Amino acid sequence: MTHSTTLYAQRRAQLARQIGPRGIALIPTAPEQQRNRDSDFPYRHDSYFYYLSGFTEPKAWLVITGDGQSTLFCQPKDVEREIWDGLRLGPLAAPQALGVDAAFSVAELDAQLPSLLDGCDAVWFPFATHKGLETRIDGWLSGLRARVRYGTLCPQQQRDLCTLLDEMRLHKDLHEQAIMRRAGSISAQGHIRAMQTSSRMLRAGQEVREYHLEAELLHEFRRQGAQAPAYGSIVAAGANACVLHYRADAGLVQSGELVLIDAACELDGYASDITRTFPANGCFSGPQRTLYELVLAAQDAAVAATRPGARFTDPHEAAVKVLAQGMLDVGLLDKDKVGNLADVIENRSYFAFYMHRTGHWIGMDVHDCGDYTEPSEIGQVSTRKDALTGDIIKSRPARILRTGMALTLEPGIYVRPAQGVPECFHNIGIRIEDDALVTEGGCELMTRDVPVAVAEIEALMRA
Ligand code: GLY
Ligand code: MN
Ligand code: MN
Repeated sequence: MTHSTTLYAQRRAQLARQIGPRGIALIPTAPEQQRNRDSDFPYRHDSYFYYLSGFTEPKAWLVITGDGQSTLFCQPKDVEREIWDGLRLGPLAAPQALGVDAAFSVAELDAQLPSLLDGCDAVWFPFATHKGLETRIDGWLSGLRARVRYGTLCPQQQRDLCTLLDEMRLHKDLHEQAIMRRAGSISAQGHIRAMQTSSRMLRAGQEVREYHLEAELLHEFRRQGAQAPAYGSIVAAGANACVLHYRADAGLVQSGELVLIDAACELDGYASDITRTFPANGCFSGPQRTLYELVLAAQDAAVAATRPGARFTDPHEAAVKVLAQGMLDVGLLDKDKVGNLADVIENRSYFAFYMHRTGHWIGMDVHDCGDYTEPSEIGQVSTRKDALTGDIIKSRPARILRTGMALTLEPGIYVRPAQGVPECFHNIGIRIEDDALVTEGGCELMTRDVPVAVAEIEALMRA
């Protein structure tokens, strides 16, 4: 086995130990998706499947049994299809290439699965992730059940494989950490390129549109070997930055306005996720700088709160405290109306300008899998009435951060024009987002090859 097949074999072995000697795990990869007539979306494998196999072809399944055996079902070699779609690994070469114990054509799945399931006590598969999977498994199980009089033994339990795989994927190993660092670095260089293009084009008197800056990001991602953007790129000029899910479009990038870019690449199956907000012409105005420094201070507080033993919610709470105090200080919130800092937090008055959470797990998926509640404290349910909606919210103690977990830290402020809101802040939208890896001493920011400090951004954009 090569170094990388060993890695996947170790993950399969770890999973096999957890499903028990008579367990069986079924993991299909993702289906191909049609975009429109005769044209598919670019293919992206299923993250669970890839985590256990390192295999990126479509139409494949992995079967792992509790005795540690793994079987791959994959597309058979087919000279004619390979002329159109490209080379396939094929079942003959798969054991050597991937380190699996056996491999068959995916066309044999229905014939082989009943005998693989026969005698197992529990069948594990990812719940609610693959359309039609439950029905397919039901078919195999009912076929097996129909033959019990001939001595077959049908599994009595169906278990959610996500519970095991989510927990494994939450803790990034050294191999994963290295890829995520590189993804972060490529994405950061894409941001630098977009920032410099913006100020250079404006200085030259050229018209700049959001898509010009998006093109710079995509160019850098592909130039450095990243396979794709990790999610739909947001390039939002001026007021567009206040639309949280805005996509890069044709908006005019104007001197004197800010640009918010939330874009990053996926490299070898791992996402990065970066947001930077910068002045289109390279020079912050007074009000822009005031709000930018506030969001940066909130991110600093979130970074300081990210360390082993802290809760997942601690960075959010630290960021909210800074943002809420800042909103009172700069007059976005009126003390006479909303009260003091404690009131603003208690009543969620800051929500008018900061309406999302400060982060999420990141890994193979940009919003990665992993429990946000602490497994050992799952029974400690508390309820409270939400100050804004009046809804009764059930909550459990948040996840305790451990080394090797990766999360984003992404506070922001979004100011839509409204009565009572100082006009100098209208239409300013700012977010600063970095990817943090929890380390023994606190956290490592994997995306800081692009700066965040005002002076550094301005220097970069003058260069
Ligand atoms: N880019 C997606 C997010 O920030 O969550
Ligand atoms: Mn994010
Ligand atoms: Mn993002």
